Amino acid sequence: MKSAIYKKYGTPEVIQIIEKEKPTPKPNELLVRIKASSVTRADTMMRQGKPKFGRLFLGIFKPKNTSLGTGFSGIVESVGEEVTKFKISDEIFGEVLFTDGTNSEYVCVPEDGVIAIKPKTISHQEAAPICDGFLTSYSFLRDVGHLKEGQHILINGASGSLGLAAVQLSKLMGAKVTGVCSASNLNLVKSLGADIVVDYKKSDFSKAGDYYDVIYDAVGKTSYKNCKKVLYYNGIFMSPVLTVNILWRSIISTKKVKFSATGMRKSKDLKKLLSELVAFFKEGKLNTVIKRTYSLDNIIEAHKHLDSGHKIGNIVITNH
Ligand SMILES: NC(=O)c1ccc[n+]([C@@H]2O[C@H](COP(=O)([O-])OP(=O)(O)OC[C@H]3O[C@@H](n4cnc5c(N)ncnc54)[C@H](OP(=O)(O)O)[C@@H]3O)[C@@H](O)[C@H]2O)c1
Repeated sequence: MKSAIYKKYGTPEVIQIIEKEKPTPKPNELLVRIKASSVTRADTMMRQGKPKFGRLFLGIFKPKNTSLGTGFSGIVESVGEEVTKFKISDEIFGEVLFTDGTNSEYVCVPEDGVIAIKPKTISHQEAAPICDGFLTSYSFLRDVGHLKEGQHILINGASGSLGLAAVQLSKLMGAKVTGVCSASNLNLVKSLGADIVVDYKKSDFSKAGDYYDVIYDAVGKTSYKNCKKVLYYNGIFMSPVLTVNILWRSIISTKKVKFSATGMRKSKDLKKLLSELVAFFKEGKLNTVIKRTYSLDNIIEAHKHLDSGHKIGNIVITNH
């Protein structure tokens, strides 16, 4: 089978497509023929080995795990003898972490991993990136920021994968939503539910006179220092982007500044969030925004686009 790998840190050109043996599922695993997989900001950070302190986990001089891709959607081709919850031909989606990657033709996943039956109402392309933007942002909004009905949330970086998911989920949770993005994405962000949109290139939301219960800096482009003057007394500043600053702030100011690595949460907690997301998708309440798709052979181009920092929504690799 074809698979994307990287043997050293660097630019997108370090990625190679290799032929390797199709994996065999362990007794508790499913073998999935991948129809679509995601390419995310986390993948590019692993490829670059950045931030550098991340190399303590990823491998100091070169990546310990050379495979790429975490999100996937596909069809179960075979199952291990202990598998009871899924069967051959099931269409499933989800994510794998620290194992074989999903930018590949096949992957093995444990049946109690972060996976679910794909709703029939969405395509494999729409399902593959759900565990990036939607799962991460839902984890933040529900379990980190404890967003409540009627609260005002500001989402910085509202046009990215996490941001567009957060706009839709915050609306579903009954919040008033301000989305910060650039002029070309204002209409998109508004169409997905933002009540107010701010063009970050024209105005500074922290000087506009509005106050927020929650500020979700989805792209790590602002700071608690810049935002604290527009947070209500019990307001929360949270970001999925790990920097030394947010790590330090979240240690000294645990009630106000929060970071979380969603992938490190317990699989059973993530599965619960995923099942709630599946219900929303079945009801047609959420949309996966995909602006670009690539073939596996063109994955280097997908990474180049991600590196530009101007990705809108999600990027998906489609297998034929
Ligand atoms: N902690 C976790 O568990 C976790 C999980 C998943 C992802 N993440 C992290 O989450 C971050 C966000 O990922 P993503 O895929 O949503 O987005 P992304 O690809 O990092 O960002 C793309 C978007 O950011 C916008 N943007 C760029 N500069 C901006 C600025 N100064 N102000 C506002 N918007 C700006 C761009 O819009 P323009 O083109 O208009 O500038 C573009 O639409 C990444 O750093 C990723 O590593 C963390």
